[in-house]
Amino acid sequence: MSVVELKNVTKRFGSLTAVQQASFSLEKGKILSLLGPSGCGKTTTLRMIAGFEEPTEGDILIAGQSMLGKRPYERNVGLLFQDYALFPHLNVEQNIAYGLKRRRYARSEIGNRVSEMLNLVQLSGFENRRPLQLSGGQQQRVALARALATSPEVVLLDEPLSALDAKLRQELRIELKQILSTVDATTIIVTHDQEEAMSLGDTLVVMSEGRIAQIGAPTEVYRNPRTKFVAEFIGRSNWLSGKLGQPNGEGLCEFTLAGNLSISVPDPEIHAESYEVCIRPERIRTNSNFGHQAGCINQLRGAVRNVAHLGADIHLVAELDNGCMVTVSEQFTGQALDHCGNTISLAFRPSDCIVVAASS
Ligand SMILES: Nc1ncnc2c1ncn2[C@@H]1O[C@H](COP(=O)(O)OP(=O)(O)OP(=O)(O)O)[C@@H](O)[C@H]1O
Ligand SMILES: [Mg+2]
Repeated sequence: MSVVELKNVTKRFGSLTAVQQASFSLEKGKILSLLGPSGCGKTTTLRMIAGFEEPTEGDILIAGQSMLGKRPYERNVGLLFQDYALFPHLNVEQNIAYGLKRRRYARSEIGNRVSEMLNLVQLSGFENRRPLQLSGGQQQRVALARALATSPEVVLLDEPLSALDAKLRQELRIELKQILSTVDATTIIVTHDQEEAMSLGDTLVVMSEGRIAQIGAPTEVYRNPRTKFVAEFIGRSNWLSGKLGQPNGEGLCEFTLAGNLSISVPDPEIHAESYEVCIRPERIRTNSNFGHQAGCINQLRGAVRNVAHLGADIHLVAELDNGCMVTVSEQFTGQALDHCGNTISLAFRPSDCIVVAASS
């Protein structure tokens, strides 16, 4: 059974529709990442689940029960909000105990629970510190401990790592995943960082302007984005415009690019006035590494315009004969490279081509 379920939830603020017909469900112990640009309705969705906003339409169920009309404290939900603040005048122990006290846990139980939580987030010994005496990462861990302390049925985390710098963010991301799996928390995590969303979530929900643009396993959404918005929002992409031909009976269509170049792409089985093709930079092989790759029947010639070494990876930009720029990302093998000005062959499989309706 789903622990959380949204059924056609809409939220309007006056004439603005912040969330429109959102539906998803989440099983026990799973993590759902809610990803989307600023203002797309992520926080509003969480606030409705927590009970700080009522849906204008639709229903929200927790453990099979409708939450309509239920106050926040009547819902078994743990929160870490975007604008979260630890109580500055309370020490770490008191911050974590806050929800337990409000729920009238016995004093001894509060003590046990707090030390359990401190252990979990590896902050034992920090009981008496005030928030200002902690680093950003430590504060974040206290906030997480506070959200988890009451063993909530649903844990809602709104941009839990956004205040941290890139390196700490990555470390804490791994830690966060471990902590959530240790307590088997059913979690909805909001982020506008696609890497975070993909690495943390069992399910990924991509939102755009209040609507769910796509929902699925992260790798599935990455491989098969249904729209240009989703493809662009998740990962880097090369876009080729052209004209889609008829299916050839084997599930492929010819896609004719400017300059009379042509590639084979999967039959999109969607109807649109015009189409665009997305190819992920890491799916393209160059001279040096495609020879032995089967199925790379698409081959385009390109002139190398830029080469950037990024540690383990190399990014190069090549200009096709029709003037279109294509980015390729490959693993650095330590071998001689394609230099600027060289002509190279870019090879990729039809299955590496994602065909979507062109945005108007
Ligand atoms: N209480 C409110 N009254 C009126 N409009 C609101 C209210 N809360 C949110 N909105 C509007 O609803 C839309 C969605 O806001 P929301 O906070 O859910 O976005 P978000 O996806 O969390 O964005 P961000 O990534 O910037 O945090 C925005 O246009 C916002 O201005
Ligand atoms: Mg928000």
